[in-house]
Amino acid sequence: MKYEDYAQGDAFQAEKRTVFSTQTLPLCADGQLAKPGDFVSATVGGWSVFAVRDKEGAVLVLRNACRHQNMQVVATPAGNCESFRCRFHGWTYDLQGRFVTAPPPVAPKDRQASDLHLPQLATAVASGLVFFRLGRTGAAPQAVTALPAYGGTLTTEIGCNWKVCIEHLLGEHAPSPDFAFAWPLLTVRRAGPLTIMEQVVPHTFLRTRLLTHVFGGPAGEHQAAAATIRHVCEQLQADRAAGAPALDEPMVVAFHKRLAEAYAT
Ligand code: FES
Repeated sequence: MKYEDYAQGDAFQAEKRTVFSTQTLPLCADGQLAKPGDFVSATVGGWSVFAVRDKEGAVLVLRNACRHQNMQVVATPAGNCESFRCRFHGWTYDLQGRFVTAPPPVAPKDRQASDLHLPQLATAVASGLVFFRLGRTGAAPQAVTALPAYGGTLTTEIGCNWKVCIEHLLGEHAPSPDFAFAWPLLTVRRAGPLTIMEQVVPHTFLRTRLLTHVFGGPAGEHQAAAATIRHVCEQLQADRAAGAPALDEPMVVAFHKRLAEAYAT
């Protein structure tokens, strides 16, 4: 990896077209969508999407782009609602992303047109998480067996490129039955009765959100660990931008190999 890949937006745009538009990606914990109307939104690798539990209890992932003028419909990271009203001109969608209504001055001429609904993406719920895919094909998420009960999710905003965060998480561990990397954005670690999933959300090329999903115990106890990850990643980002080489632990090297393969597609 060159230092530009961590410090400039071009690599992020390339990753948006390759890694993130073709792979199955995690979005949130299923437990974050406990009730109908619960939603979580994020920009993952440059793609703005949100997950919602509909009135029948199904989880959907939808593109977060209004059919009127392509603006973000869901502007908050998480919440609960009965419908989604775009704040720009008032187009309104139900919990399945279907167009419901719009104020007369901006209403579509044909209210029955099929392209008025928010596009629904391939969605899977597995291992306590919600996954989505932008492409037509892609590997199904691997299931984690014997997962303890969901305990909560911590959100940590980090001023670094997403690859720095992945490298740090991988560099802390040797391959073992208790630690796994689920390419491209998730690590799974067992620690006694706990299973901890660190989900990396590449928000922009220098803004990364880390979701720490804790199973088997309360999430609050992991606040200090998450703060340490943020501190270390921001320091590593500064090092990388100054030209320092990436870590050379085996799992980091394997990650770079996978990235190079994705870039070549
Ligand atoms: S962009 Fe959403 S209503 Fe106009």
